Amino acid sequence: MDLYGKGQTQIEPRPSKQMAATQDVKGKGEGGDQNFDYMFKLLIIGNSSVGKTSFLFRYADDAFTSAFVSTVGIDFKVKTVYKNDKRIKLQIWDTAGQERYRTITTAYYRGAMGFILMYDITNEESFGAVQDWPKLFKKSLVVLAGNKCDMEEERVVSVDSGRLLAEQLGFEFFETSAKDNINVKQTFERLVDLICDKMSESLDTDPAVTTGAPTAKLTDSAPPLQQPGCNC
Ligand code: GTP
Ligand code: MG
Repeated sequence: MDLYGKGQTQIEPRPSKQMAATQDVKGKGEGGDQNFDYMFKLLIIGNSSVGKTSFLFRYADDAFTSAFVSTVGIDFKVKTVYKNDKRIKLQIWDTAGQERYRTITTAYYRGAMGFILMYDITNEESFGAVQDWPKLFKKSLVVLAGNKCDMEEERVVSVDSGRLLAEQLGFEFFETSAKDNINVKQTFERLVDLICDKMSESLDTDPAVTTGAPTAKLTDSAPPLQQPGCNC
């Protein structure tokens, strides 16, 4: 397979439609591709129907459907991004928001390096629930996402309320739309940046990924192959 060819953004098939988490993540579910510099485990959490699955589909597949198929248990997708020529594999877990799956989903919080905590700007209850989620994980890097910002007419949670809550909780904040593709990529990029910043505080971290040029951006594209004869 041409790693640096056309398919720079590597998106692997879902391990299974439902209850994928029962698979060994080091096995088939991860596509067996060990060719990466770093792997970050991320989780998307929040009440049912806020748009977690749609958000992940938009990011990984650039697709959206208005049909609602509530997630059963947990599922994940893999996406590879590049930062300072380092290949970072994102293992993104999409959790079921329904209360009855809480025991299963929280079991997967272990080892997570960052969370996207999502509410729906048209649903007050989902916003109120934001306060409860951090009790389930301690001291983590979190981006709060107020999803469905395309539904301005049905809005019940103001941007300022979202921002204020994020400030109080010490989280980053974006309003997003999986439907109109607003701030989806930015949310993931911010989370990856936060993780890299945190890693840079650790002594044994490869400085190339964490302390590269200040302008270094996260990209979906692989670095260009070195030309023969080029010594740079
Ligand atoms: P659970 O799996 O039950 O936890 O729900 P979920 O958070 O994964 O929600 P899901 O992504 O399945 O979306 C729920 C519904 O909201 C679906 O009908 C989506 O099409 C719709 N939806 C998701 N994101 C957006 C958005 O940004 N804008 C609009 N207008 N609708 C959205
Ligand atoms: Mg879902």
